[in-house]
Amino acid sequence: MQKLTIRCPDDMHLHLRDGAALARSVADSAQRFARAIVMPNLAQPVTTTAQALAYRKRILAALPAEMTFKPLMTLYLTETLSPDEIAVAQQSGHIHGIKLYPAGATTNAEFGVSRMERVYPVLAQMEKLGMPLLVHGEVVGPEVDAFDREAIFIERELAPLMVRFPELRIVFEHITTCEAVDFVRAGSAHLVATVTAHHLLLNRNALFTGGIRPHHYCLPLLKRESHRQALLAAATSGNPKFFLGTDSAPHARHAKESACGCAGIYTAHAAIELYAEAFAAAGALPRLEAFASQYGADFYGLSHNADSVTLEAVSCEVPTGLSFGAEEVVPFRAGEALAWRLCS
Ligand code: NCD
Ligand code: ZN
Repeated sequence: MQKLTIRCPDDMHLHLRDGAALARSVADSAQRFARAIVMPNLAQPVTTTAQALAYRKRILAALPAEMTFKPLMTLYLTETLSPDEIAVAQQSGHIHGIKLYPAGATTNAEFGVSRMERVYPVLAQMEKLGMPLLVHGEVVGPEVDAFDREAIFIERELAPLMVRFPELRIVFEHITTCEAVDFVRAGSAHLVATVTAHHLLLNRNALFTGGIRPHHYCLPLLKRESHRQALLAAATSGNPKFFLGTDSAPHARHAKESACGCAGIYTAHAAIELYAEAFAAAGALPRLEAFASQYGADFYGLSHNADSVTLEAVSCEVPTGLSFGAEEVVPFRAGEALAWRLCS
């Protein structure tokens, strides 16, 4: 049986949620990952260092006693965030990035930025202090085709931003297109990207296989096969600009199986296993460790984890539902097989 042991990985883009959902989401991630960059888009967004530190405590309180896990916190960039708060965040030692949501782009993004100029003073402060900007790279607007939102964001927002703030460190989160791959490859060393497992494994046909599939709905949307191929090539290329970030984002079953379903796919129950499957299919398993456990840490200035995890190529079935407090979440691959299993 094939086995793979790698240095313990980090998830550089994760939605843990809050309250009763934390017990499950934290345990699933902690089983596989040593650390995670924790997204701040709670129903009440995490906009101050004090709120982030309190959220961090709730995450740690939800961690099962026998597990270790380090939540790396972020702040939500609103148009009223002050440059002074960036300095406070930096000094706390627990805030690793500031998340930019274009207003209305995704779940709980209504508190985000509608005009970039309004956050220039904050971006200047971040550039000065070396605080990374984590970008949800999609434009919104009824005139923009939903599948073009990322490519148009690069032209309209990201490229001009990088000219204005050339030293700003930027993570282009959950990239989904060959345009994003090319842009990151060609960009300066300050520009990197995270890639999800679901965008490596699925193309947009998965939204419509035999009928509409709400559990494959996420933002940015899945794209056509040529884009998936470009992502897979980038992730498995050994280029340190591309690293692991799951964007695992649980929503209750009823919120997704709805006339207006929520965006987000839950992959934390099997995240490293899913990446192993994608890398194995590309004949690139030897490159998984650097993508999952080194490049992200290097960008964020963190040491590499000392422990390791072992995977074995044994098929196992994913439950049809997972309990999240009183709610049920339908995980990625529900009722279907995974090709890899985590050894305890
Ligand atoms: C995320 C969520 O549910 O918080 N949803 C998603 O589809 N990825 C938000 C995000 O990262 O866009
Ligand atoms: Zn996300």
